[in-house]
Order: sequence, then C-alpha cells, then structure tokens
Amino acid sequence: MTKWLILLSKHYFEFISQVEKKIIKLFYKLFIYLWIAILNKSSPNIMEQFELNVNGKNHQVNVDPSTPILWVLRDHLKLVGTKYGCGIAQCGACTVHLNGIAVRSCQLPVSSVGNNKLTTIEGLSENGDHPVQKAWLEHDVPQCGYCQSGQIMTASALLESNPNPSEEAIASAMHGNICRCGTYTRIKAAIKTASKS
Ligand code: FES
Ligand code: FES
Repeated sequence: MTKWLILLSKHYFEFISQVEKKIIKLFYKLFIYLWIAILNKSSPNIMEQFELNVNGKNHQVNVDPSTPILWVLRDHLKLVGTKYGCGIAQCGACTVHLNGIAVRSCQLPVSSVGNNKLTTIEGLSENGDHPVQKAWLEHDVPQCGYCQSGQIMTASALLESNPNPSEEAIASAMHGNICRCGTYTRIKAAIKTASKS
C-alpha cells in the first residue's frame, strides 16, 4: 500500500506545476505537525511524586516514573557533579551509590529507588576529604575531568567492599569506567594509595 502511494505521488508530481507542488508540500507539513500534536495530546506524561534520600537529605520530586535518576539529580536537585556520557550504561560517567553500591544512574528509573539511600559525588565527603578524593589529588589524576566523578564513585564503592583490592580486583571493578583522556594509570595508582590510608 505504502509502495503504491509513493509510486502514485511520484508520477503525479511529474505533471503538476511548481506552485502546486509548494502548496501540496505545505499541506503535507501541516498534516504532520497536526498528527504529532494529536499524538502528544493522547499520550500525556504521567507525573508522580517521589520521596528520595540523597546525600543524607530527603527530597520530594514530581516526575515521570520512568525518568532516569541521573536527570532527577541533575535537573531537579541541581546535583550536576554526576555526568551524562553515553546514556546506555556503558561509560560509567553517571555512577552514583545506591546503599553504597556503585550503580549507573542513567539506567536507574526514579520509580525503582524507593527508600534506598543515594549518594552522589557531592555527598561522598563533607569537605572533599574522602581517602579516594585525597589520593586523586595526590596523584593529580584528572585531565579534562569529565569522567572523574564516576571514576571516584566506582573506586570508593570498591574500597568500601574490599579495602585492600588486588591489581585484578581494581581492574575488574574499574573496567566499565571509560576515560577518553586515558588517565587509567593514575587512577590505578590513586586507588592503591587510598587503600593504604
Ligand atoms: S551515562 Fe551512564 S553509563 Fe554512560
Ligand atoms: S579525565 Fe577526561 S575523560 Fe577522563
């Protein structure tokens, strides 16, 4: 059916004038805009209220339940230390802690958080003095810095569960955190330093 319509419209367009073509195109565009408007109206976003515990404080947000927690943190709570990289759980830039476990906030819907405690880079320590943050400074780890909050959140979760990780354990925990500046050697050195403190 679609094939026939395309063929018919192709032949028709060969016989009509430029002005007619413009009018038809205009009507066609209007039809598309109307159709999009109708679709948007028929499927409105359903907002819900959520209570979230972030960095030890309770927050209320009114959002679509499917919203990834990354966007709730950044857009609603203005905690912009957590970064958007790939959006498909492949780069680690958006890593936060959920009850102390490193998770990808770009793939975590707000509706699945419940009463669990979220920690972002802003809440990792009072004054930026978590052992991992101190080691990061000591080794001058960041380059552009974009991936670094995700790296620190993954590293700190690793040390929480394994205070003295082997080289293999570090590599295995950190392998999903991508750094386009290639700071991997300094990251590994900083984790080793933090594990000794
Ligand atoms: S933005 Fe979440 S893993 Fe890349
Ligand atoms: S420091 Fe630039 S992406 Fe990691």
